[in-house]
Amino acid sequence: MSNEIETTFPPLACVILAAGRGTRMRSEIPKVLHPIANSPMITHVVSACGALNPANVMVVVAPGMDAVEKAVAPHRCVKQSEPLGTGDAAKAAQETLKDFDGDIIVLFGDAPLVTTEALRRLQLKRSETGADIVVSGFTPEDPTPYGRLVLDSRENLIAIVEAADATSQQRDIRLCNGGVMLFEAKTLWTLLGQINPVNAKGEYYLTDCIALAGEARKTCVVVPFPPDQVLGINTRCELAKAEKLMQQRLRGNAMLNGATLIDPETVYLSADTKIGRDVTIGPNVVIGRGVEIGDKVEIRAFCHLEQVRIDNGAMIGPFARLRPGTVVGAHVHIGNFVELKNAKVDSGAKINHLSYIGDATVGARANIGAGTITCNYDGFRKHLTQIGSEAFIGSNTALVAPVKVGDGAFVGAGSVITLEVPSKALAVARGRQTNIKDWARRFREEKVPKKEPPTH
Ligand code: UD1
Ligand code: CA
Repeated sequence: MSNEIETTFPPLACVILAAGRGTRMRSEIPKVLHPIANSPMITHVVSACGALNPANVMVVVAPGMDAVEKAVAPHRCVKQSEPLGTGDAAKAAQETLKDFDGDIIVLFGDAPLVTTEALRRLQLKRSETGADIVVSGFTPEDPTPYGRLVLDSRENLIAIVEAADATSQQRDIRLCNGGVMLFEAKTLWTLLGQINPVNAKGEYYLTDCIALAGEARKTCVVVPFPPDQVLGINTRCELAKAEKLMQQRLRGNAMLNGATLIDPETVYLSADTKIGRDVTIGPNVVIGRGVEIGDKVEIRAFCHLEQVRIDNGAMIGPFARLRPGTVVGAHVHIGNFVELKNAKVDSGAKINHLSYIGDATVGARANIGAGTITCNYDGFRKHLTQIGSEAFIGSNTALVAPVKVGDGAFVGAGSVITLEVPSKALAVARGRQTNIKDWARRFREEKVPKKEPPTH
């Protein structure tokens, strides 16, 4: 029996604001869909919330952001018809959540590095202090653009002053609003009903709720957040910075979960990468979306993987490219300059050098010689190549699909295989070798004039 005390929190809803225009990205696609670790930015926020088991996760979008709605499904989206500020955006969730009895975390879709643990700390702080509102605070190196947190002598938060509206004295405050806030639900809706756009930007500021809370005798407290967690993305430079931080986090998690990364800084992972125990990943490996790696797999330097499953004990690379739809069985060896696409390679098979195997099945323990190519495309359609178990394909073979090589069959090197090779047969499909006796000697004699004997 565990003797840990589980803190129980009030029911929770999360409201993610994502209706901002994001003009500084200079992009056709909504800012929150720009990927970090190969997943749309906003999906990181959604999963950080999801792990808190909230009753509700809602995303506030602008009209026309159908692609965002798709990316966050099955979570609900509500629309903010005009970008009138963060307070107005939060109000867009009111209709759905007006009777919700619990706490609401409001956070931003363009701050993708927030973690579940950090959000949990907001809940903890509320249950410890009984405060009605908990705000994430951080101390950035450069506080210029952020809302400043004004505390009283007992460290209670009494106001958030936006940068554009701050007095020079307030601008000296280093403690800033990270953007993530937790509200008791009824308090949020009451306060949002009172905010007005009388400020430097003419916007409804969510942050104005704090000063209004004081008037309503509600209490507000601050929880410190590490600056990384609240990094907001406005430009592609910040996107790159977030990518870097996310990669560091993913690498750290992979190592803590039992993978060896020989040179972690050069390995790129995806948010959904699954890595087993005792996996070794060499330098300069790029792992795209949808990759699942079993136990004791070795991925050597300079491999590129996307949408593949690699089973226990397989050895990949160096310099292998594994493309979508590929399944590499247990203890398979995939060597240098091998490209696999939509290929199912069964356990113990070897494809060690310079091959393209696409739209194919390779049976257990088959050996695919250097330079084997599946000719899967006829200019119009893709066709399947089936190679049986324990088949042996000689070097530099072209397998013209659709074609089948039976179990245990041999294919002679340099063959162009267009017909089925029966199980256990040998297929040789190349010009027969002819040797012409003395041809080379005669050829040379014709070309090279006989030397005159020296005259004395
Ligand atoms: C906000 C905070 C500021 C804090 C900073 C942290 C306010 C008024 N200010 O400022 O105190 O220090 O974040 O990064 O809240 N959004 C909408 N609809 C709108 C406006 C914004 O959905 O009408 C969304 C945006 O898409 C974005 C988020 O709200 O995801 C934050 O908006 P943004 O304009 O970036 O706020 P900041 O000025 O950065
Ligand atoms: Ca911002």
